[in-house]
Amino acid sequence: MIKIPLLLMMMLSLSSVIAECDIKKVDKCMLEMAIIGDTELRFPTNQTAMNDRCKQMRRLEYCVKDYSKKCLTKRAGQTTSVLMYGMTKTNKAFCSKKRQQSYLRIGRCVNSDPQIFSTIMNRLTKSFHAIKSYPKESMRIPLVCCNYHRFKESIMKHVEKICPNEYDDVETLLDGYVNDVVNLICGDYTADSDKCDSIIADTPEWKQSLIYKSFVIPLAQVVDSI
Ligand SMILES: *[C@@H]1O[C@H](CO)[C@@H](O)[C@H](O)[C@H]1NC(C)=O
Repeated sequence: MIKIPLLLMMMLSLSSVIAECDIKKVDKCMLEMAIIGDTELRFPTNQTAMNDRCKQMRRLEYCVKDYSKKCLTKRAGQTTSVLMYGMTKTNKAFCSKKRQQSYLRIGRCVNSDPQIFSTIMNRLTKSFHAIKSYPKESMRIPLVCCNYHRFKESIMKHVEKICPNEYDDVETLLDGYVNDVVNLICGDYTADSDKCDSIIADTPEWKQSLIYKSFVIPLAQVVDSI
């Protein structure tokens, strides 16, 4: 008699754990936050859309933070939390009255060529998919860092070409998003060191289609693979 409710309770609690740890959902949250990476998504270009975006951002941030707290291992969760700290701080800054106009200008720039920005983003996400099984474990994080530096360089090169006036703001946005986590995990593999030159070509190739559309789960998996 007592067995049935107990089993039922166990099943219910198990299903709630699974619901909290929906990996596809967190992937989607991060993709929506990043915008680039999905050619269908667009940055806001007017004040109304900007206000919506800033409201929505809090839900997306919570989605990723909650997941990293509850569903990732300690190290992967820490890395993701530091990333989210940078992203939250930066989103908040760009949502302030003072910075909204520059966010809107960045948006117009990126919206003018979503294809190329997504291609650059997806190359990074693809690398992260592959790096988690790179044979030499100690080089996995350096490879993540070097691929990020290459990503940023490609983005900045393209911004310089199509909207040079937005160059500084895009750099501020990107640096705000990731510098905390880069400082945490990259050590000597900084953007201006030449240490990446000798290893970037070792980045393994991911020949399948992407399992995750955003970079956050692949990044967590690399951290977790060591
Ligand atoms: C603002 O932008 C959104 C989405 O880009 C669009 O649907 C809406 O019509 C725009 N609103 C105004 C007032 O231009």
